[in-house]
Amino acid sequence: MPSIKELIGIAVLASTCFASTFTRHSAGGSRGSHLSTSSLSGAVDVAGSGNILSSSNWAGAVLQSTGVTGVAGTFTVPTPKIPSGGDSTTSYCGCAWVGVDGELDVCPNGGLIQAGATWCIRGGTPSFYAWFEWWPAQLMMIFDNFSVNAGDEIQVAVTATSTTTGNTVLENLTQGTSISHTWNTESPALCKLTAEWIVEDFTDYYSNGSISPAPFANYGSVTFTNNSATVNGASVDVSGAQPANMVVNGKTVSQSTISNGKVTVTYQG
Ligand SMILES: *[C@@H]1O[C@H](CO)[C@@H](O)[C@H](O)[C@H]1NC(C)=O
Ligand SMILES: *[C@@H]1O[C@H](CO)[C@@H](O)[C@H](O)[C@H]1NC(C)=O
Ligand SMILES: *[C@@H]1O[C@H](CO)[C@@H](O)[C@H](O)[C@H]1NC(C)=O
Ligand SMILES: *[C@@H]1O[C@H](CO)[C@@H](O)[C@H](O)[C@H]1NC(C)=O
Repeated sequence: MPSIKELIGIAVLASTCFASTFTRHSAGGSRGSHLSTSSLSGAVDVAGSGNILSSSNWAGAVLQSTGVTGVAGTFTVPTPKIPSGGDSTTSYCGCAWVGVDGELDVCPNGGLIQAGATWCIRGGTPSFYAWFEWWPAQLMMIFDNFSVNAGDEIQVAVTATSTTTGNTVLENLTQGTSISHTWNTESPALCKLTAEWIVEDFTDYYSNGSISPAPFANYGSVTFTNNSATVNGASVDVSGAQPANMVVNGKTVSQSTISNGKVTVTYQG
């Protein structure tokens, strides 16, 4: 299973959808109504209701609780476009995934399990990959036997069967095809403290030692539907999750809303 950038011929060692550290911003009173934690048993809302999360590389929703062992959601793979001011020789990318334990400040020394799809656009040519990773030991591994295209409705489920084992299933709902991967005795161990539904500007590790965010494509918007997490053995919806916006150098690059069980992430340019 090659890395994404090996596939598209760029001299990087690997790409990863990363754990993220959040800063927290108050969104003002109108947001509080979306952030009820009442449906969660054992939920810990560290920021308090009325707050949204902010990250330089993530947008979407984060649910924080003890006893998180699973997350699932469905999204339609977007058509990536070259961003305003972009050029035809750079590859612009992004990815959507669901995972457990992605919030670095909540699980600072633990692992993160995740799976999803990546899109890239270079000149007029888009490319798409389905992948999984147990970060940071195992970076974005491609399912080279499961093709993905813009418009595919992909259902992704990630399950921690212990703090060092798990599995993921990706299903193409349009075709009824599916692919799975089982993690056996991975490290570092999970904390089981967050579930997340994320659109990310992923990180590239270059062979010369540089680490930098991938140039970010205009993906329009991604909506996660049929969302659930497993918390202390029970299935819960996203109503207890907090929205996260992607903010780079003070500019909101992606905005997230949680409403009626859906998480919508919109590119802001
Ligand atoms: C998923 O379904 C789409 C049609 O919506 C198709 O183009 C694509 O090849 C399918 N992928 C797999 C792995 O079946
Ligand atoms: C598809 O690829 C994954 C990852 O390499 C592997 O675990 C799985 O067995 C493969 N499935 C099929 C049907 O080839
Ligand atoms: C490493 O390579 C990348 C891609 O070619 C380049 O953008 C970056 O500036 C290089 N970094 C260093 C420190 O040479
Ligand atoms: C919703 O997702 C669950 C898995 O989390 C799946 O079993 C179910 O079939 C999905 N429902 C729809 C309508 O896609």
